[in-house]
Amino acid sequence: MDQNVFVFDHPLIRHKVSLLRDKNTGTKEFRELVSEIAMLMAYEVTRDLPMKEVEIETPVAPTKTEVLAGKQIAIVPILRAGLGMVDGMVKLIPNVRVGHIGLYRDPVTVEPVEYYCKLPEDITEREVILLDPMLATGGSASAAIGFLKKRGIQNIKFMCLIAAPEGIRRITTDHPDVKIFCAAKDEKLNDHSYIVPGLGDAGDRLFGTN
Ligand code: PRP
Ligand code: URA
Repeated sequence: MDQNVFVFDHPLIRHKVSLLRDKNTGTKEFRELVSEIAMLMAYEVTRDLPMKEVEIETPVAPTKTEVLAGKQIAIVPILRAGLGMVDGMVKLIPNVRVGHIGLYRDPVTVEPVEYYCKLPEDITEREVILLDPMLATGGSASAAIGFLKKRGIQNIKFMCLIAAPEGIRRITTDHPDVKIFCAAKDEKLNDHSYIVPGLGDAGDRLFGTN
């Protein structure tokens, strides 16, 4: 399981996640932090992008150097809370295409319910980075990945801020081909399937709806 899971240990990310967890962090700062952490994570999530050699001239001499080989990427936030991570990703990958999947977790069954999907037309040719700040039971992420696969998408990474061990187990079991990147791995779920210690309801904190 561990070879498919990358937990960030960078001090900047750890610091920002601590601020995010604090119940006294208000909506404005929460939004900014989610976006900043997503941007910092994008750096690692895109580490394996292929490069190609090109010839250029510096003011001093001609030289061979490397640029991105142009592998196409799409990011797909899971609505609502995944939207908070889009801005930070786009800052680092300005030409990225953005699809959307709408899922909510039924409050009684905690099963994911799908209500929206709009993806770029050429999505099957792209590497897809699925975004959601919270991986709790893993039901939402697993359903979203299944949905992307049904549309013919083969190359999928999942990026979240806080992951519970239960969610990680679910994704690595249901989708062993999908790499998970998380800013922090927490202890467990509580009786309401909330992550402990977690940060509460990510969507409500991002959009100020609680
Ligand atoms: C949250 C979160 C994930 C899901 C995680 O969304 O953003 O999508 O719960 O839980 P799971 O791993 O147990 O499926 P929520 O259903 O609260 O919807 P929202 O983003 O609209 O607030
Ligand atoms: N969704 C959230 O927003 N928070 C949790 O802790 C679990 C699911």
